[in-house]
Amino acid sequence: MELAAGKSGILRNVVLRFLFFSLIVVVVRFAYVITIRGESCTAGDDFCFFSSSSTSPENQNLVTATGGHLDSSSSVTLNPTAAASPDFNKHVFFYTTVFQNLIADGFLSTNSKSLCVGTPAGDDVYALKQININDSVGLTGLPHRHPFNNNTFDFIFSGNGALDRSTKPSQSASEIVRTLKPERYVVVHTSSKDPYSFNSFIRLFKPCTFIRSRQIDGFVEITMKKQIQQTDENSTNQCSIEGKQELVKKIEPLIESEPLKPWITLKKNLINVKYLPSMADISYKQNYVYIDVGARSYGSSIVSWFKKQYPKQNKSFDIYAIEADKHFHNQYKSKKGVTLLPYAAWVKNESLIFEINQTTIRDNDNGNERGMGRIRRGESRKSGSGDVVQGFDFAEWLKKTASENDFVVVKMDVEGAEFELIPKLVETGAICLIDEMFIECHYNRWQKCCPGVRSPKYEKTYVQCLDLFMSLRRRGVLVHQWW
Ligand SMILES: *[C@@H]1O[C@H](CO)[C@@H](O)[C@H](O)[C@H]1NC(C)=O
Ligand SMILES: *[C@@H]1O[C@H](CO)[C@@H](O)[C@H](O)[C@H]1NC(C)=O
Ligand SMILES: *[C@@H]1O[C@H](CO)[C@@H](O)[C@H](O)[C@H]1NC(C)=O
Ligand SMILES: *[C@@H]1O[C@H](CO)[C@@H](O)[C@H](O)[C@H]1NC(C)=O
Ligand SMILES: *[C@@H]1O[C@H](CO)[C@@H](O)[C@H](O)[C@H]1NC(C)=O
Ligand SMILES: *[C@@H]1O[C@H](CO)[C@@H](O)[C@H](O)[C@H]1NC(C)=O
Repeated sequence: MELAAGKSGILRNVVLRFLFFSLIVVVVRFAYVITIRGESCTAGDDFCFFSSSSTSPENQNLVTATGGHLDSSSSVTLNPTAAASPDFNKHVFFYTTVFQNLIADGFLSTNSKSLCVGTPAGDDVYALKQININDSVGLTGLPHRHPFNNNTFDFIFSGNGALDRSTKPSQSASEIVRTLKPERYVVVHTSSKDPYSFNSFIRLFKPCTFIRSRQIDGFVEITMKKQIQQTDENSTNQCSIEGKQELVKKIEPLIESEPLKPWITLKKNLINVKYLPSMADISYKQNYVYIDVGARSYGSSIVSWFKKQYPKQNKSFDIYAIEADKHFHNQYKSKKGVTLLPYAAWVKNESLIFEINQTTIRDNDNGNERGMGRIRRGESRKSGSGDVVQGFDFAEWLKKTASENDFVVVKMDVEGAEFELIPKLVETGAICLIDEMFIECHYNRWQKCCPGVRSPKYEKTYVQCLDLFMSLRRRGVLVHQWW
């Protein structure tokens, strides 16, 4: 008995020593990789765990075990703390099932060179190896630049909602797309999304197209395929309205009958406005842009409405103020994050007559009475009183300034020019770039001063205004009546 106990004691000792020795080897190897070769670690290395010195604020560690002499269990030791957690095996089991499903459906095969991104523990990389997809690596974070060449991988996976936590989802997505081979698949596990943000999410992966989505263990699994550069820009003036139609159904109804006291009714309507960011998640966008067309004073719509009231989901917006009236320009000097375009938004580049007519409004900032500028084409210059201002092609400018991946809010108060600007935006497809829009439509409204008398300033009727709003909503533009 004693002998047996002694033997097993020796055995235990040997095993312990061996484990201890293995641990030392691993630790020394780590130290070597990190201190000596830290920055020169490449995707081909069989064992590497490094922190890039690049400017990327997000973690950029590489989990890999591609070398022949390291069996798959070596990859676990790459991140000892995470791998030791009791959840590790559970996760590996889950991912094994996920990947086996993807193999069965033809999105993945044992020959696929695979990448997992945003995987701190490398459990998904480990799962891939378990099912013999040997050429697999992982990035622990979502670096702004992946250390791989274009068109490297057959399969890219991002699990556990990692992309939802990215500070720059558009950048993370474009790096995935860049390193994925054409005609191959990217699979993402993400939290469930409203239709609008789902659509913005998919769009970040252009030129990948959506293949399928399914519910999976608290996440939505989205499969996309990288297309060889598509040429579908043909239908320029047909906006993609997926995700927006639902929202258009939910926003406040238009005021159907012409208000008798428009100066009260329209202003009151502000409390009914259902803003897009109060209905949908706007996280999956690249830049956030607010364009105030006919901005007037800085304190009016930009500060008192957009800055104070528009729900921004904590995003910081680039603001463009378009205002031709020189009177207001000084206020925009040294306003951080605000770009003044001292021109009139118009349908082409040309000089315009900017008339200051008798109708006046209060300028909130300095109490001055200041006429609203109405613009006329330059040809009639001889006839007029009024300044000459430079008009610019607003639709063209918008297409240069914003992309489909940006979140763009436009407020437009242009004294009747909306009946020229809107059709131009539609015709050029620039309207598709606008996510949410607020338009003051100018018509021959009843006047406050004189009951029963319509304003002579504008020719359009309320019905024409309604038509303008309804046609935009039919196109999937979230447009609101501004006052
Ligand atoms: C992956 O590696 C395992 C173990 O080294 C080996 O048995 C298997 O054949 C490899 N699979 C492929 C597809 O190379
Ligand atoms: C890699 O892809 C990016 C974007 O897809 C492109 O801008 C870049 O020129 C490509 N690089 C090479 C070396 O082809
Ligand atoms: C593009 O549009 C034109 C005219 O609308 C049409 O004739 C042509 O077939 C379209 N091309 C593609 C690739 O869809
Ligand atoms: C908003 O952003 C600030 C700083 O960028 C951050 O401290 C704060 O937690 C954020 N709030 C929400 C609700 O996300
Ligand atoms: C209008 O002016 C802008 C800025 O000067 C210029 O970039 C653009 O090409 C012009 N557009 C047309 C149609 O002339
Ligand atoms: C103001 O507008 C009215 C109506 O369009 C017009 O008859 C009048 O000439 C304008 N006044 C000035 C000073 O341009």
